[in-house]
Amino acid sequence: MGEPAKAPGDIVRGPGGAACPQPLLGAKPQASVVEDFARYVSPGRVEVYRALGFDAVPGRREGVYVWDLDGRRYINCRSSGGVFNLGHRPPAVVNALKEALDVLDIGDHMLLSEQRARLAARLAELTPGDITYSFFTPSGGEACDVAIKLARGYTGRPGVVSAIDGYHGHTGFALSAGDTRFKRHFEPLMPGFTQVPFGDIDAVRRAVDETTAAVIFETIPATAGIIIPPDDFYPAVRKICDSRGALLILDEVQAGLGRTGRLWAIDEWGVVPDILVLGKGMSGGVYPLSAVCYREHVDEFFKRNPFVHLTSFGGADLGCVCALAMLDEICRPGFLDHVEEMGVRFERGFARLKEKHPETVAGWRRRGLMMAFELAEDKLGPMMTYALGKNGVIAVFSDFRPRAMQIMPPLIIQPAEVDEVLDAMDRALDLVEGMVAAGVPAPYIP
Ligand SMILES: Cc1ncc(COP(=O)(O)O)c(C=O)c1O
Repeated sequence: MGEPAKAPGDIVRGPGGAACPQPLLGAKPQASVVEDFARYVSPGRVEVYRALGFDAVPGRREGVYVWDLDGRRYINCRSSGGVFNLGHRPPAVVNALKEALDVLDIGDHMLLSEQRARLAARLAELTPGDITYSFFTPSGGEACDVAIKLARGYTGRPGVVSAIDGYHGHTGFALSAGDTRFKRHFEPLMPGFTQVPFGDIDAVRRAVDETTAAVIFETIPATAGIIIPPDDFYPAVRKICDSRGALLILDEVQAGLGRTGRLWAIDEWGVVPDILVLGKGMSGGVYPLSAVCYREHVDEFFKRNPFVHLTSFGGADLGCVCALAMLDEICRPGFLDHVEEMGVRFERGFARLKEKHPETVAGWRRRGLMMAFELAEDKLGPMMTYALGKNGVIAVFSDFRPRAMQIMPPLIIQPAEVDEVLDAMDRALDLVEGMVAAGVPAPYIP
């Protein structure tokens, strides 16, 4: 490796003075990368990260750890909402991708594909009930768009009922189904969308009628603060949908693929949705891929209109290879038990933290390793994100409920690493309490 480049466009000289590519990581000092980001990508984001005290640039990454460009190590308890379910650069997926690169490319989405057929067959085997078909997209937002288009096309109805504080992505239909805060600058959005309080079955009953194409919920709404619905909620939603001819779409972009200690979060409620949306962790964090998986009868619409949604990078052959390798990992015997065991270990630690910091910690909610650590008030969430960053843990507050810290470590986290996070949380709570006592304001309020 030659001298690090000093400025954009500098040629790095390798052994013998030959020009060689800049190193991918660390070609410039961290502070200068932050400046470049502010100058060429987003000054607004850099301002927020600086306020949160987290303007670190991820560099080397491996397993549950990320090192910033200054060499500081963090445990990633954000996992990009589940993208890194298997940790960073999981060897099984990375190796599958490397091998595939010798033979495959993205493929042509208009043509047939051996890899897409193979992945769809595996998903048909693994998804609940008679979910049979899969349509692939690059992002979760686009997958939710496809799910809603499919529901409207299949039922011939316009209505979509979703949750207040829900999050399904920032593309057209998905945005229309999401929370007001992200929508308000872009109105008017799609007509026909109604929102109800999540978990309120009477509100669902009132909202769903013979004009409703679909009810769409995140099985466990993440951005709302990891909210667990009552035991009878989904069975009742299923009944309402059936009785009024509406489809049930469950968005498991964050909650699916083992995150809750079950393969699918909805398994806890024993309900089969008509459409299940997957994303994030689909391809081990090394390739963008999402999926819309749906029941046999719903395909009637796509059968009549097989080219009605086109997306050049949807179901790329390379992504399908990664997804198959990822599924093999999460289907290994004992994988889901491990998720639950680590979740229980966290929960015991949360109880100790609540005992030690009774004024600051309000409680927690948990399914597997999908966890909200709830603080006493909203301003404490951004403070905790700041304080955790200072203590070597990446974790964020929930956008729509800032007091709820999302603790979403990679599912492969080990007991010693769980303890490391819990120790860091203890120190971070001390720091937050010190900031409150000193009258320091919250670094950022969403
Ligand atoms: C539950 C849920 N659905 C959909 C999306 C959108 O996925 P993407 O960012 O890949 O478009 C997200 C993203 O955070 C999500 O959390």
